[in-house]
Amino acid sequence: MLGPLHRWIWRDPHRRARKLLRFAETEADGGRDLSRAAELTHDPLLRRLYLRHASDEQRHAELFRERGGAILRALPPASKPGFDANWFAPGERGLDDLHVADQGEDALLAFLHLSEKTAAQRFALYRAVLAHDPETQVVFDEILKDEAFHMNYTYSQLTRVAPKKHGRQLWWARLGRLWKAYLRLAAALAGVIGGLVLTVQYFVLLPLFAALAKRAERRELPGWSAIDPKRNRSLKSQY
Ligand SMILES: [Fe+2]
Ligand SMILES: [Fe+2]
Repeated sequence: MLGPLHRWIWRDPHRRARKLLRFAETEADGGRDLSRAAELTHDPLLRRLYLRHASDEQRHAELFRERGGAILRALPPASKPGFDANWFAPGERGLDDLHVADQGEDALLAFLHLSEKTAAQRFALYRAVLAHDPETQVVFDEILKDEAFHMNYTYSQLTRVAPKKHGRQLWWARLGRLWKAYLRLAAALAGVIGGLVLTVQYFVLLPLFAALAKRAERRELPGWSAIDPKRNRSLKSQY
């Protein structure tokens, strides 16, 4: 169902390049978060896995940056960027931010598992609509192998560190993502409504008040009358 929308999003080379460059930033950010998680954990196996994961994300960042840069460099200088569609095609962490230090080991693994799973699904979809750009497809192929590993190890480690409550942790992580999605949607909607109200004020209320002010200026107040400019000049010359 989303195929045609994503095909349209990825068709424009300018937009494609900017998306890949933005993915590069998100992956590098994810790599830093995982290095921090490796630093904080007391579990030696998790430390090793987080470090490997961090270096994978760093490599993904480089792959995306190189490919995005190559697409941009191949574009004619006068070409214009199309409408950006970050909401419809977000990167690996989606639009979520990870706060490593605030989470327990099991909550962190549940969050990572869900984001890696979503990333694997998204990247597979982006790859499928990029038949016209085989070089970018190769980048997604390469990255998808690692995402499958990330998705699997986070799940198996979650069941190891929380054998009894891993199901609950996954539900909490799902709810957390839904809540964040709702907040983002509400904030975006508030922005749109705010913009509409300001536009209505500018084009409807402002001219109305300006017309009323002009009318009030022309109208004579009771007991007062406008001074005739000729008479005003002769009065001035007398004094
Ligand atoms: Fe990645
Ligand atoms: Fe990943």
